[in-house]
Amino acid sequence: MTEMRALIQQSATSKTLTLTKTPRPTPAQDEHLIHVKACSPCAGELLWPANFPPPNQRTLIPCPDVAGMVISAPADSPFKPGDCVYARTNYIRPGNACDYATAPTDELARMPQGMSFVQAAAVPVSAQTAWQLLLVQTFGELDWEEAKQVWGGKRVLVTAASGGVGMWVVQLARLLGAEVIGTAGGNMGIVKELGAEVLDYRTTNLREWAGQEKVDVVVDCIGGKSLRDAWWTVKDEGVVVSIFQAPLMVKPEEFEGENVKDLFFVMQPVGQQLEEITKLIEEGACRGMVDSVWPLEQYEEAFRRLDTGHAKGKIAFDLELN
Ligand SMILES: NC(=O)c1ccc[n+]([C@@H]2O[C@H](COP(=O)([O-])OP(=O)(O)OC[C@H]3O[C@@H](n4cnc5c(N)ncnc54)[C@H](OP(=O)(O)O)[C@@H]3O)[C@@H](O)[C@H]2O)c1
Repeated sequence: MTEMRALIQQSATSKTLTLTKTPRPTPAQDEHLIHVKACSPCAGELLWPANFPPPNQRTLIPCPDVAGMVISAPADSPFKPGDCVYARTNYIRPGNACDYATAPTDELARMPQGMSFVQAAAVPVSAQTAWQLLLVQTFGELDWEEAKQVWGGKRVLVTAASGGVGMWVVQLARLLGAEVIGTAGGNMGIVKELGAEVLDYRTTNLREWAGQEKVDVVVDCIGGKSLRDAWWTVKDEGVVVSIFQAPLMVKPEEFEGENVKDLFFVMQPVGQQLEEITKLIEEGACRGMVDSVWPLEQYEEAFRRLDTGHAKGKIAFDLELN
């Protein structure tokens, strides 16, 4: 049996990781076998197995994002052996911190031309979460032109706008015509570069700031105190949407805004959306960002960097380094 390297989380209740050898996965009839060239972890993901138990018993391999080369494909797949693909693969299967992974057609997208595997691995979960937030969740399912009508001219506050997801919300919301304000600290420069107004969360009181002009939509990418404070910035009839927790969990008791909609959602891997993102990247309209690149063997340092909560873009593993 052919073996591969795999990074494995000991149990749902332990964040301890071990790099070990396991058998290569065998793709199901509707799945591709992918030679993983790069993969990327998501902030907080070692807590997911405890907080969001996978629906089935599975090996706990981290890194939802993968970029790699197709080794074998189902007969009816648009992807052929040798194609470069990327994806946020489905949570029902192990993640991608391993040499070989499997994925069905509907999770995969063609990698942007000219992009390295490492750069590509930094995109899927962040970009698709932002896409779903703007074009599926907040105002229902919209195509790009409808979304421009809906988001055009809206004033949007994004917390942790310099983070993996935040920087994609900033970019896509701006492309859709929204006026975007983002919070950041040491990474304020990233938000400014992406064309948004930036607030330093270390020195800005959001309640006082919002006294000047409230926003139509709060997009929260960090939860906790940031989300609680952000409630003060939303207009009556506005929306507070978080990718971290249900906004009502931290709504200030004295908040008196009327008819404010609140929303939390968990993204789903949809390859077609990632294809749209591929096109935007190829047009030069959007980009991902890599904070640092690690060999799989340096997983402890890589996850320590991720856990600081202050990375400048995504942490990526290059499986060809060791
Ligand atoms: N619901 C879903 O489907 C979904 C999908 C993807 C991710 N998530 C979750 O969303 C969260 C964010 O993920 P991510 O990948 O975007 O995280 P990330 O890239 O690790 O976020 C790091 C960024 O957060 C900023 N930051 C830290 N503390 C802040 C604060 N108090 N206020 C404002 N900004 C702050 C940092 O900027 P400074 O260095 O400037 O402080 C840094 O740029 C995670 O909990 C993740 O699990 C949920």
